[in-house]
Amino acid sequence: MKYLIANWKMNSVNLDLWEQKFVDFINSHKDFPQPSEVKLIVCLNLYDYFVFSKKINTSKNPIFKNISLYAQDVSQHEEGAFTGQISSKFLANIGLKGSIVGHSELRENGDSETNVYKKGLKLKEEKLSNIFCIGEDLETLKSLNKKSFLLNQLKAFCKNGLEPDLLAYEPIWAIGTGIEADSENISSAVSIILNFLHKNKINCPVLYGGSVSTSNIDEIISIPGLDGCLVGNSSLDGEQFAIIASKIKS
Ligand code: 13P
Repeated sequence: MKYLIANWKMNSVNLDLWEQKFVDFINSHKDFPQPSEVKLIVCLNLYDYFVFSKKINTSKNPIFKNISLYAQDVSQHEEGAFTGQISSKFLANIGLKGSIVGHSELRENGDSETNVYKKGLKLKEEKLSNIFCIGEDLETLKSLNKKSFLLNQLKAFCKNGLEPDLLAYEPIWAIGTGIEADSENISSAVSIILNFLHKNKINCPVLYGGSVSTSNIDEIISIPGLDGCLVGNSSLDGEQFAIIASKIKS
C-alpha cells in the first residue's frame, strides 16, 4: 500500500473545482490506482471539512469517496480555556480520522517536542491517527547534524507506547521553496528513520514531503523505502493531485 497526503494548509481551495478536476482525471484514466493500492488523505481546515466531507459522502466516484479527511493540527490539551485550539475529542466527534502533528510550520510557531508528543497522545486517546512530521533546517543539514537531529525528534515522540501511524520526512528547506530534496538526501533520511523504527519494533509507512510535484514525483517515489508523499502546493489543484496519485501506485 502507498500513501498520498494533501496538506492544503491555510489556502483557499475551490472545492467544487477540485472535485471536478480530480474526478475528470480519474474518469479519463482507467488505470488510476484503486483505494487498495494508494490511500489518499486530505488534511484541511474545519470549514472546508464540513463542505468537503458532504461531497465525499454523496459522491458516486468510488475513488473520490475513499479519500480520508484529517486535520492539520490538534490541541495537546483535553479541554478548557485554550482560545483557538481544537481538541482531539472534537475532531473525533465531527468525523475526522486524525491529524498532522509536528509540522515544521507549527514547530516554527512554538510547538516544542513535548507539545508534539502530547498532541500525539491526545490523538491516540481518541483512537485517531497521527501523521508525524520531522525534518531538519538548512543549517542543521550543512553542519552535518542531520542524523542526530532526526533521531532526537523520533526519540521525543516514540515513547511510552506512542508511535507514528504515518511518518513524513519533510526537510524544512524543501518546503514551499520549489527545491525538492535530492534523492541522496531523501535516501539517507529514510535509512536513518527506518533503522530507528526497526530497532524500536515500529512498523509505519515513511513518506517524503517538500516541493513534490507532477514533474519530480517519478524520481521521488522510486527511492527505496519510501511509501508515499505529503504534498502542499501541488495538492491545491485536483488534477495535479490526481496526476501525482496516478504515479504512486505500488
Ligand atoms: P510543499 O509541497 O508546498 O513544499 O509543502 C510541503 C508540506 O509542507 C506538506 O506538509
